[in-house]
Amino acid sequence: MPSVVVVGLQWGDEGKGKVAAYLSKGARLAVRYNGGPNAGHTVVYSGRTFRMHLIPAGGLVCGRAAICSGVYVDLRTLAEELRESREVRPDLKVVLSPRAQVITELALRAEELLESMRGERAIGTTRRGIGPTAVERFGRVGLRVADLLERETLKEKLGDIAAFWRLEGSDLDAMAESLSEQFMSLDLEVAEVSRVIRDHLTSGGTVVFEGAQGTMLDVYYGTYPYVTSSVTTSAGVSPGCGVPVRWVDSVVGVAKAYTTRVGAGPFPTELHGDAAERIRSTGGEYGATTGRPRRIGWLDLVQLKFATDLNGTDRIFLTRIDTLSGLTGLKVCTAYEGYKDGDYPVTLSELSKVRPVYAELEGWPVIDDVQRTTIVREGYGALHPNARRYVEFLEEHLGTPVKQIGIGPGVEDVVER
Ligand code: IMP
Repeated sequence: MPSVVVVGLQWGDEGKGKVAAYLSKGARLAVRYNGGPNAGHTVVYSGRTFRMHLIPAGGLVCGRAAICSGVYVDLRTLAEELRESREVRPDLKVVLSPRAQVITELALRAEELLESMRGERAIGTTRRGIGPTAVERFGRVGLRVADLLERETLKEKLGDIAAFWRLEGSDLDAMAESLSEQFMSLDLEVAEVSRVIRDHLTSGGTVVFEGAQGTMLDVYYGTYPYVTSSVTTSAGVSPGCGVPVRWVDSVVGVAKAYTTRVGAGPFPTELHGDAAERIRSTGGEYGATTGRPRRIGWLDLVQLKFATDLNGTDRIFLTRIDTLSGLTGLKVCTAYEGYKDGDYPVTLSELSKVRPVYAELEGWPVIDDVQRTTIVREGYGALHPNARRYVEFLEEHLGTPVKQIGIGPGVEDVVER
């Protein structure tokens, strides 16, 4: 049963879209198990750049995609994404779980209120309704895909949600009408996704589970409360998809060669000034969902060790070595003063006080298009020795092998080790 989970090891935006697409070649099914339209998995497919919010990026490559119960679904985003994806992949089949949670206008309104209520302590969410929809789920008033099939239940549920958020004056009839219409126009199959996944696995097909966001945004283990409202670790596969935990064969952790984060919250290795600006502009580091400039920082091995341990990471796919190229005097955080290896601060006040200890490493020359082609063809040995040193330094510190290295935006711009 070859199944693999692709999981972000930082604060999201590690390049999971490209990695999932790369690993989905020859797979039977690509699966999204968590998050919602807050995610933006960028993948270059058939000469076009796609930012996939709900359909797993790997689905474009293997042609069959599943959106599971752990996902928060915005019907309009899904319709738009189905349309765009089928322009290049007309045969794309999508199966949606009847248990997936539906994001409503009410959740979007609730989020506006909650974020403005927090004032300076706002989370800086993507404003896609994720937090309130999660609260609805666990508050047991949530609207699920299956409810869209029953008009009376749909109206009743919308009434419950409006009462829950105390959002008076909402035209619930119009809302129900519009949700029904949007749902009916979706060209996909609604089915028990857990069974679909199990059938693929028992018949010998490969399934790629594509995690959204990153470990440090996990609602249990991330930099709470500056997190998203999902389980973003590999552990999310089982509740998110309804497959037994032991059916996941391997965990690929995706780490970027430096660190980024969007939204507010602690970021111990954050960089300001020229180096940050240079990485931001070279790497196009702007949010795929919101367009916000991403905050930039040095690679943080304390944070990465915490994340690789949490996820049970078998191997690392390191991305964006090319974005760092051309910089001199790279720094890598190897410890937080006073913290034991493998520990990570729990509270915001602890995190705001940590003092990162840095190792300085030599940079490597710019990787241009010609070199990229050569390196992909000739393999790891063709990478500049300083770039290899960087990879091996990370690997030694984490005790987890780096098996693939991304050196460009294309799905094929990968060095295998
Ligand atoms: P929410 O998920 O929209 O509630 O936002 C909560 C936090 O997670 C904010 O800091 C967002 O910027 C961040 N976030 C959510 N989705 C992503 C993502 O796909 N990449 C990076 N950050 C994300």
